Amino acid sequence: MASSPQPPPPSPQPSRAANDFRSDTFTTPTPSMLQAMASASFGDDVYQEDATTTGFEAEVARLTGMQDSLFMLSGTMGNQIGVRLHLHQPPHSVLCDYRAHVYAEEGSGLAVLSQAMVTPVHPRNGLYLTLDDVKRWVVLGDDIHCAPTKVISLEVTIGGVLTPLDEIRNISEFAHDNGIKVHCDGARLWHASAATGHSLADYCQYFDSVSMCVSKGLGAPIGGVLAGSTADIRRARWLRKQQGGGIRQAGVLTAPAMVALKEIWPTMRTTHERTKKLERELGAMGVVPQIPVDTNFFFIDAGRSGVDMGVLLDKCGKFGVRLQDERISMHHQISDEAVENLKRAIKEAVEDTKKLPEGYVSKARTGGYGSTSKMNEYS
Ligand SMILES: Cc1ncc(COP(=O)(O)O)c(C=O)c1O
Repeated sequence: MASSPQPPPPSPQPSRAANDFRSDTFTTPTPSMLQAMASASFGDDVYQEDATTTGFEAEVARLTGMQDSLFMLSGTMGNQIGVRLHLHQPPHSVLCDYRAHVYAEEGSGLAVLSQAMVTPVHPRNGLYLTLDDVKRWVVLGDDIHCAPTKVISLEVTIGGVLTPLDEIRNISEFAHDNGIKVHCDGARLWHASAATGHSLADYCQYFDSVSMCVSKGLGAPIGGVLAGSTADIRRARWLRKQQGGGIRQAGVLTAPAMVALKEIWPTMRTTHERTKKLERELGAMGVVPQIPVDTNFFFIDAGRSGVDMGVLLDKCGKFGVRLQDERISMHHQISDEAVENLKRAIKEAVEDTKKLPEGYVSKARTGGYGSTSKMNEYS
């Protein structure tokens, strides 16, 4: 977390996001974000003349301890450019978790934009990649049958689960000893920092590039930011322009991002506590998570909890809350009333699931974390 004193959390906004548990992307800009947009500097950022944007980028560089940073239009853009910075001439490959967003959820960007093979790894602990996983699957050497690993990409947090800092350090040291760059999909690195008390810089020291989202959990309407070395960020600016990401009056986007850093980041611990409280309350109903609830996600283990997801999604409609799958996403704008309604929906779903006839085929697909991805063991 930032070391400077934190302002008090903003009062909860009456927001359309209050009932929306689908993702922590479904937040709405706060009044202070809108105010900041209106008083942004309105310089042209393609010419690097926008003070609001350069100020935001300097602040992220300071917080991450990286040499520089660059605002991105999305987390996907930050990831794809971040990885591409380290990939120069195929054959080459990226090693990552099989559920990693950069691989499974970015429209085959690694293949299209970086001409990269991917080594998608199932972590042996079922939670996060370890050095043992990396050593088992990394492609080293010059065997002409293979595509050597040139980048290891770690998603922190992944499924809301924390990767221990020591594990990140071990992977990073191994990678660097073998000429491999390390990228972080830190869409939710803010959460990791808030949960563990390790600063962003504590994490970022082990990475060559770090992509973070400002519209996920952090609550800004648009964007992300890529941090790295001065030379890499200079090249990233070029690649971003090539992808249509040269933004003119970028301050209207970076101003709310700056507010998000100052106002919403300090509220994340509270969000984590509320998620853990929900875990305890659901536990009392026999509803258990698939993976540890370290931060802001609770993935319902539908099978072990005796919940038919089709039934649950219908109940959510009845109680006026939004859920799309097994993931309950908490964020700063979820209201207490919505949590109560979600619990009611889940309680009724458990009761009604018991009454389903034998052999009933659910209206919703279930199958564990990552089941939205086509490329996993459950599909
Ligand atoms: C872990 C992770 N990385 C990257 C992204 C991509 O962000 P965006 O939707 O802004 O492209 C997401 C989006 O949900 C994500 O969850």
